[in-house]
Amino acid sequence: MNILEAIENRRSIRAFKPDPIPDDIVKNILNAASRSPSYTNTQPWEVAVVSGKIKDDLSRELFTAASLNTPISPEIQKQSSWPEELDKRAKEHSARRCEVLGIERSDDRKKKDLRFLNFKFYGAPVALFIFIDKCLGEWSILDTGMFAQNIMISALEFGLGTCPQASLTDYPHIIKKHLNIPESKRLVLGISIGFPDSEALINTYRSDRVEIDKFVRWY
Ligand SMILES: Cc1cc2nc3c(=O)[nH]c(=O)nc-3n(C[C@H](O)[C@H](O)[C@H](O)COP(=O)(O)O)c2cc1C
Repeated sequence: MNILEAIENRRSIRAFKPDPIPDDIVKNILNAASRSPSYTNTQPWEVAVVSGKIKDDLSRELFTAASLNTPISPEIQKQSSWPEELDKRAKEHSARRCEVLGIERSDDRKKKDLRFLNFKFYGAPVALFIFIDKCLGEWSILDTGMFAQNIMISALEFGLGTCPQASLTDYPHIIKKHLNIPESKRLVLGISIGFPDSEALINTYRSDRVEIDKFVRWY
């Protein structure tokens, strides 16, 4: 797979096989991602690799918190509203995803069930949590974005799929307590990673993109 094919082929995977990922593969992926660019080569990212019983217990805690409607407290603020055009894209994304699964727009319970699958890591055998120190600013968050993308692209080399999940940052206190991460760290993103379940309907969903003419100005 060449670079353009890899970028084109990456998509968010929302159903994984339970098959474990050998540690060496995870190390390879993180090693590749460590080559990501960062502001003055500061390499601000810190990663927790979570699998096995620790992952399953954490999943249960997050799922319970969400089920009890525990107020979320992400350390990167969620966007309270989007500009019209972006809001349209977000709504289309949700609608098309539901359509693929045959979920009616009015079926709030099924939509909630779908959202809650985030906390089960969509069945993935490994969850990655990316942190930066709380003293760091926006450039470091940008750095972790590039790092995350390189994780997701590198994963393809091993036949693995990924899903970047802001939802996994809803309850940072639970995650930090569970993983013994100091409160001085800021949870930026969770990524589920595993072998895609090619039979799962949800994985047939392919998100749209706007034409480049819509976002490029040539001079
Ligand atoms: C920062 C960020 C947060 C995201 N959070 C979630 C999430 O919580 N749950 C989820 O299922 N997908 C999440 N996604 C995946 C997006 O929905 C997805 O990237 C987008 O719809 C484009 O689809 P694609 O990744 O398949 O190309 C997130 C993506 C990014 C970059």
